Order: sequence, then structure tokens, then C-alpha cells
Amino acid sequence: MEILAYGVQTDERPLLERAFAGRHGLRCLDVFLNRDTAPLAAGYPVVSSSVNAVLDAGTLAVLAAGGTGLIAQRSTGFNNIDLDTAARLGLTVARVSHYSPYAVAEHAWALALAVNRRLTRAANRTREFDFRLDGLLGRDVHGMTVGVIGTGKIGECFARIAAGFGADLLGWDIAENPACRALGMTYTELPELLARADLVSLHVPLLPATHHLIDAGALARMKDDAILVNSSRGGLVDTAALVETLRAGRLSGVGLDVYEEETGLFFTDRSTEGITDDTLARLVTFPQVLVTSHQAYFTRTAVGQIIDATARNIDDFAAGRRSENTLVPRS
Ligand SMILES: NC(=O)c1ccc[n+]([C@@H]2O[C@H](COP(=O)([O-])OP(=O)(O)OC[C@H]3O[C@@H](n4cnc5c(N)ncnc54)[C@H](O)[C@@H]3O)[C@@H](O)[C@H]2O)c1
Repeated sequence: MEILAYGVQTDERPLLERAFAGRHGLRCLDVFLNRDTAPLAAGYPVVSSSVNAVLDAGTLAVLAAGGTGLIAQRSTGFNNIDLDTAARLGLTVARVSHYSPYAVAEHAWALALAVNRRLTRAANRTREFDFRLDGLLGRDVHGMTVGVIGTGKIGECFARIAAGFGADLLGWDIAENPACRALGMTYTELPELLARADLVSLHVPLLPATHHLIDAGALARMKDDAILVNSSRGGLVDTAALVETLRAGRLSGVGLDVYEEETGLFFTDRSTEGITDDTLARLVTFPQVLVTSHQAYFTRTAVGQIIDATARNIDDFAAGRRSENTLVPRS
């Protein structure tokens, strides 16, 4: 089958090409799939999209009109895909329901530790041969109360690492995870978790019910010196409220791998032209904030697993099979 893959990162391209060699024809594009770029897919039965694609009704209509049958999304989250419209247009949609949760949980911890121990500031200083410790005071994670919001696959890994540090665990989820309980996690209501945790890490999916879960009210409940980490989806946090919280001198660290307005910005180089997003621009000026551009999944292990699963999704589509990765089956 002929496949058009959008949003392919430089490091990802050789892995994709190797996985598809001899099986399918593959054309890789670095642009993201949206209304403007969808016409490029005309004549391709399979389109593979990346996490920041905008698969709204307009994009899907262009794909369907161009003869695309399968959208093979190379991510777990699918909040960017209008599944109802895809079904109505007869488009099959598959995602990658799981891959190394360690990749994301480890990156969430990298953010937590970096903001706690002020690593960015320390690295900038030592590069200028400034070896003072002023302003670099952190806290032991051992003995901290760590609140895990969403205790599924990634939340469980995050909790496991927390337990290794010797932290006390609080959890919030609509369904309790026995493995987290076995680690000593106490499940609480969300307001209690927010009030008691020294470190709060978000691992729920972005759904209407979780949109702006961390809003001004939730931020107000958190301890003044708490650390907030979001490696799940930007829309979980009301960023304007977060900026106000930071302006008020609250929160000792914020580590964000995702941002609610990241689409069209993350994964691109804006270093010469600057950005027009004032909220993000303001956010990165706070010394206790560290932002990475949706890279938590970006390990050799996880990307390899995503590509293998995408290849299987394409084989399933060709054979008319359904799998746990099927979001909209073949009609
Ligand atoms: N930054 C990245 O690179 C990256 C990579 C992969 C996944 N993610 C994000 O991480 C999220 C979690 O992934 P996962 O593999 O652990 O998913 P998962 O499905 O294993 O776990 C999600 C958990 O959230 C809970 N949940 C669902 N709806 C809820 C609600 N309304 N209220 C409270 N809890 C709710 C579920 O019960 C489940 O335990 C994904 O949805 C995705 O958005 C980010």
C-alpha cells in the first residue's frame, strides 16, 4: 500500500523507512496534517498522522475526497481526531493504544527533578563559570507527598519511580489501580490530593471531563511551594490561570511537556522569528518553569514500538481486521 506519513521527525524517519521497506511504499513529510496539507494525500489509501495533526471535519473531508481509507495515527492520544465525522465519511481510524509508558513517566520525572534542583539555571551558570549556589536550593524527593492524577499505565510507572525515591503516594482516578495500591498509594478526592501533595503529576487523558482540570480553583488548592508536572495533554491545565499563579509567586517548580496551544508550534523551529503566543512566551520567563516540546514519548524504544504498531495497524486494515488500536472500524 502507498502510505503518506505526516509530521515525521528527522530522528524518526530512518526508523519508519526501515520498518516499511519491502512492505509498503512510504513517503515522509515533515509538515503536519491539517486542512492546508491534506490535499497532498490525494491518491494515498493510507495516511499516517502525528500527535499534533488537526483531524477536524474539514481535514477529514479532504482526505476522504482524495481516496484515503485509513488514518493511522502514530500516538496514543486521539483528542485531535473528530471520530464521528471520520465514521460518517467511511474513514477507518487506528491509533497506537500502548507503547513504553516508561518513556513518558521517566520524562515526567526528568522534568520534576530538573525544576526541583534548578538544573537549567545551574547549567546556564556553570557555562559562564558562575559556581554560586544562590537560588538553587531544592528538596529531597524522599519523604515528599507525590500526587498522581490518573493512575493508568503511565501514572503507575510514575508512581513506581516515586516509590523508589521513598515518596508517599496519593492517587486520583475514576478507577483504582491495584498495582498502585500495592505500592502504598492512597486514593483520595482530587481537592485533598491537590492540598496535600508536594508534587502533582498529571496522567489522565484529555476529555471534556478533564479539560482544565487544573484551573484557577485547583491551583489555589495546591501548596505554595508545590511542583506541578504535566506530561499528558496541554488542555488539562488552564495556562492563563497557571501564569497568574506564578505571577503571584506561588509554585516552586512547573515542568510542562505539553501546552494547550502547542499545535502548529511544538515540533517546529521558531528560534529566528520568535513566537506570537504571549502566554507561552510569559510562561518560559519564570525561573522555576521548564517547558519541553512534547518529547516525553521520544525514546528509541517508544518510537520503535509506535512504528511497529502502526505497521500492524496498516496490515490489519489491508486484511479487514479490527484490533484494540481500532478507533473507527472499516465500514
Ligand atoms: N507527552 C507525551 O509524549 C505523551 C505520550 C503518551 C501519552 N501521553 C498522555 O498520557 C495520557 C495517559 O496515558 P496512559 O497510557 O497512562 O493512559 P491509560 O489509559 O493507561 O491511563 C489513563 C488513566 O486516566 C484515567 N481516567 C480516564 N478518564 C478519567 C477521568 N475523567 N477522571 C479521572 N481519571 C480518568 C483512567 O481510568 C486511567 O487510569 C494519555 O492520554 C496521553 O494524553 C503523553
